[in-house]
Amino acid sequence: MSAQAPTHPALSKVLLDEATIKARIQELGVQITRDYAGRRLMIVGVLKGSVIFLADLLRALGPELDVEVDFVAVSSYAGKASTGSVRTLLDLRESPDGKDILVIEDIVDTGLTLTSLTETLLSRKPRSLEVCALLDKPDCRKTPLQPKYVGFKIPNEFVVGFGLDYDERYRQLPCVGVLRT
Ligand code: PRP
Repeated sequence: MSAQAPTHPALSKVLLDEATIKARIQELGVQITRDYAGRRLMIVGVLKGSVIFLADLLRALGPELDVEVDFVAVSSYAGKASTGSVRTLLDLRESPDGKDILVIEDIVDTGLTLTSLTETLLSRKPRSLEVCALLDKPDCRKTPLQPKYVGFKIPNEFVVGFGLDYDERYRQLPCVGVLRT
């Protein structure tokens, strides 16, 4: 991971450029295709931050894979602090019963959102449940949660782009960068 000149005035530096992210997503796609061969994979995107990653990851999966896509929307933050208790704003449309769920996140920070969400999903008796996150900030973790699939481990800096926002802005940036303060 090498810092590069910013491509947007809101960024102080680019942490991960577009080509680096795309290459890693291709690798994840190959790995997930191999791991879920012969199984019924249900990809669950956590809105909104995961949508860019999910769209690229989905296209990196092998065409032979039996895969469906669904979404959840959750809210765990009151102001800037995570409350640890996740409120479901949008629930799955399909039943996860008996399926192999792979939850897709843009970033795992404290882990509180995913810990609560995975507990809720596990209570609905999927065959298995794993997590795939584009970004992991292990230094910030407040729970033991560790995603099985991680794109990149990053330091504790506030990042935006590739789906991640600040106040709902910058999700469209093709790279992941540190927001200028
Ligand atoms: C972000 C991110 C995760 C969560 C991670 O979502 O997408 O869901 O925070 O934080 P945690 O590990 O500390 O719980 P956010 O609430 O910003 O919503 P968004 O995806 O709509 O941007």
